[in-house]
Amino acid sequence: MHTSGDQRVKGIVLAGGKGTRLYPLTKVTNKHLLPVGREPMIFHPVRQLVGAGIQDILIITSTEHMGEVVRLLGSGKAFGCQFTYRVQEDALGIADALALAEDFAGGQPVTVLLGDNIFTHSIRGFVRRFLEQDRGARVLLKRVDDPSRYGVAALDEKQVLEIEEKPASPKSSYAVVGAYCYDCQVWDLIREMGISPRGEYEITSVNNCYIRLGQLSYDIVEGGWTDAGTFESLAEANAMMLACENRIGGLQEEKGGRP
Ligand code: DAU
Repeated sequence: MHTSGDQRVKGIVLAGGKGTRLYPLTKVTNKHLLPVGREPMIFHPVRQLVGAGIQDILIITSTEHMGEVVRLLGSGKAFGCQFTYRVQEDALGIADALALAEDFAGGQPVTVLLGDNIFTHSIRGFVRRFLEQDRGARVLLKRVDDPSRYGVAALDEKQVLEIEEKPASPKSSYAVVGAYCYDCQVWDLIREMGISPRGEYEITSVNNCYIRLGQLSYDIVEGGWTDAGTFESLAEANAMMLACENRIGGLQEEKGGRP
């Protein structure tokens, strides 16, 4: 394995959950194994992390599909990285899955990608700007037509004031997408938080903790973005990745080829 990457940050791909919105496509397989463009969905967050210089990557998925995920991804050698795997037994939310990564992080900052989030451009700049921060967290925002489906950020010119998860009356059209950078405070914050009315440990609650600490920065997504968790968004993700043959913009040119 080459070691030209950034050893200061570790990567986490969250690929648990039940994928119920894609049933029956997800009856016998995991959402993140479905095709997006020319590759299985989960290749995308892996390539994003590797493209951002991150080589130590934890994959979290459900008990049911861990075998197939390991069979598909292997050790990481083929991607120029090294994988560690952990099982999330019950789909209790994104923050619940993230909590399983504490030992893996070993006190280092982390970049977390939701396994169903697809970006046309590299998140490398986002990770670099996070590493330039003294501490805290960083999120990525994208203007969308249907903010009620997402975590929505209320903003002023300088900062995120509050994030609401799937609000009926969104305060802005900026969705908080599934890419998050956290320092080592995140583990204590998750431990202290409660379960939401919809029965999940919400990543939005984690981000709101950082807002209260005055330590949440943000960037706007460069290029296109979609999740792939519904039939419509999966179709959009497919179209997006077919158009670029799964090549992530602003990356291959610099890196000179794919892993
Ligand atoms: O896509 C961005 C949105 O993702 C954010 O704007 C929201 O704030 C965030 O809550 C999330 O919303 P979704 O409703 O789309 O999340 P979903 O339940 O589809 O989960 C997204 C990914 O997170 C999924 O592909 C795998 C991972 N996950 C999810 C759950 C609930 C887990 O690993 N474990 C889980 O228990």
